[in-house]
Amino acid sequence: MSQRTHSCGALRGSDVEQTVLLQGWVQNRRDHGGIIFIDLRDREGLTQITFDPDICGADTHALADRLRSEWVIAIEGTVKSRGSNLNANLATGEIEVFASGLTILNRAKTPPFQIDEHSKVGEETRLRHRFLDLRRPQVQHALISRHRITKVIRDYFDEHGFLDVETPILCKSTPEGARDYLVPSRVHPGHFFALPQSPQLFKQLLMVAGYDRYMQIARCFRDEDLRADRQPEFTQVDIEMSFVDMPTVMDITEGMIQRLWREVLGINLPPVRHMEYADAMARYGSDKPDLRYGMEIVELSDWAPDSGFVVFQRGVEQGGVCRGFNAKGSAEILSRRNLDYLDKQFVRDYGAKGLAWIKVSGGEWQGPAAKNISAAAREELAKRLQVEDGDTLFFGADKRSIVEASLGAVRVELGTKLLGLTNPEQWEFVWVHSAPMFEYDEESRRWASIHHPFTAPYPEHLPLLESDPGACKSLSYDLVLNGVEIGGGSIRIHDTQVQSQVFRALGINAEEARDKFGFLLDALELGAPPHGGLAFGLDRLVMLMLHLDSIRDCIAFPKTQRAMDLMLNAPSTVDERQLRELHIVTTASTVL
Ligand code: AMO
Ligand code: AMP
Repeated sequence: MSQRTHSCGALRGSDVEQTVLLQGWVQNRRDHGGIIFIDLRDREGLTQITFDPDICGADTHALADRLRSEWVIAIEGTVKSRGSNLNANLATGEIEVFASGLTILNRAKTPPFQIDEHSKVGEETRLRHRFLDLRRPQVQHALISRHRITKVIRDYFDEHGFLDVETPILCKSTPEGARDYLVPSRVHPGHFFALPQSPQLFKQLLMVAGYDRYMQIARCFRDEDLRADRQPEFTQVDIEMSFVDMPTVMDITEGMIQRLWREVLGINLPPVRHMEYADAMARYGSDKPDLRYGMEIVELSDWAPDSGFVVFQRGVEQGGVCRGFNAKGSAEILSRRNLDYLDKQFVRDYGAKGLAWIKVSGGEWQGPAAKNISAAAREELAKRLQVEDGDTLFFGADKRSIVEASLGAVRVELGTKLLGLTNPEQWEFVWVHSAPMFEYDEESRRWASIHHPFTAPYPEHLPLLESDPGACKSLSYDLVLNGVEIGGGSIRIHDTQVQSQVFRALGINAEEARDKFGFLLDALELGAPPHGGLAFGLDRLVMLMLHLDSIRDCIAFPKTQRAMDLMLNAPSTVDERQLRELHIVTTASTVL
């Protein structure tokens, strides 16, 4: 026997008395009165190996005594029952293998950290030695699950007639809204490729080319500020379909989600609910509402003028809104410190001047806003926010966008942290659809796409493109899970006229449009079918399905929050010669 007979996770009580050959890594070694126990590990699990000198002989026993963590070995032996000493926490816990032979395949230096499940090691150290970190069972579980998830996805789309087509990595920038990663051309001095932020334009061109249904598990690159759910290099499940409307794309992609939850998690999901973008913003202060808890935001602008509280009155008088919500039953839980933090610190990051609050406790209305509110206004408020004893009320009065953003964020802070209203088995999906085509960007003083410039307007809103761009709604949809945007897409423009109109509304003139997207405009004139699609963030999907804290936990070789690969030590400086070949002079100091 020289090939493995089993993996380290395979042997059971029914295998007792078999002769086996196992190979793997030494997880640990224990010496119990002359008998040596090894936990042998591979990606399938752990098996206990026992070296009893009476069985394996003195030489093999002596060799086993030299074994250290992470050495790679092969053992031959016989499977024995552990009898009443079984380990119920281990899949192979009913048995142990009494070794008769041992071969050391490779030694290892003392590793910088123990590879067992319970070791708590800083992320930097783990990422620097990612190949060791990847040996940990929970990381292996994440990557194995990710493999299963992509397999289910590919099978699902294959069954529905989608073709997997690869699109280029060296390409021209697509306007997804982030900064591009650029690649200098040696052959064309001063010219650059951009890495794709998504395959958006290619998949549209594939529709023009008649491919009908496209899918790709596509790598995307965006140079943006990173967070737990954002990487500079991430993966999309990218799809596009011809001759479809908005409900069809939503149904097909929702089918993928239903299939994943059923096959990977064993859960039958109910149909996903739908919500208009404007509704989501008004009721949850967010385009990705977390529906695992209530605390719906209520319009109070018509109540504010007679409220008796100058902060609310002023907010509305100055053209803003007044809105509030009720954190039911939270008065006992939220401390004064919690409330001061939200009021004086937390909401300020969202541009708010404060967060008025009222605690209703023992029949008393307490807090900075309470004393000023007239009895009649209080009664009306109690009705609108369904106030009962034990509640805390929160208010914002300012420009609409500030009130939405700040109250929306307070709601999430309360739900996920301060009040802890979520549980891991909750899956609250919602389609947020029909966002406006544009939002006004105060900084550059122009309209910007909420999705991207290829998103189609509601046909009946076409005239608004010129007269009132802000009121024009788009045929767009995002799929949100537990407050995270896991996917987004739209029906596209397939008419050159409309595409030009949209570019105009965005302040992109004809010349610029031709320079950047000439190929798309040409294609639209050469038989473009109606089409639409969507892209899921695969890393986010896996993160949520497996209850991971960050998408880094399901990416084999992720970047840090500072967009670095600590193992490769990349990005790095390069030779002068390489820069010369690329016709590049850098102004940055080479000392980082
Ligand atoms: P969008 O820009 O919304 O759409 O991206 C689609 C999905 O990709 C995920 N995502 C990310 N995941 C990790 N790190 C990032 N930096 C990151 N950025 C985005 C999100 C998001 O929902 N071409 C369009 C899709 C289309 O219209 O068909 C697009 O890229 O989960
Ligand atoms: P005071 O000024 O002490 O009467 O109380 C004002 C309360 O309202 C404080 O809690 C402020 O943080 C809060 N506040 C101030 N401006 C706003 C605003 N624009 N929206 C909501 N609350 C505000």
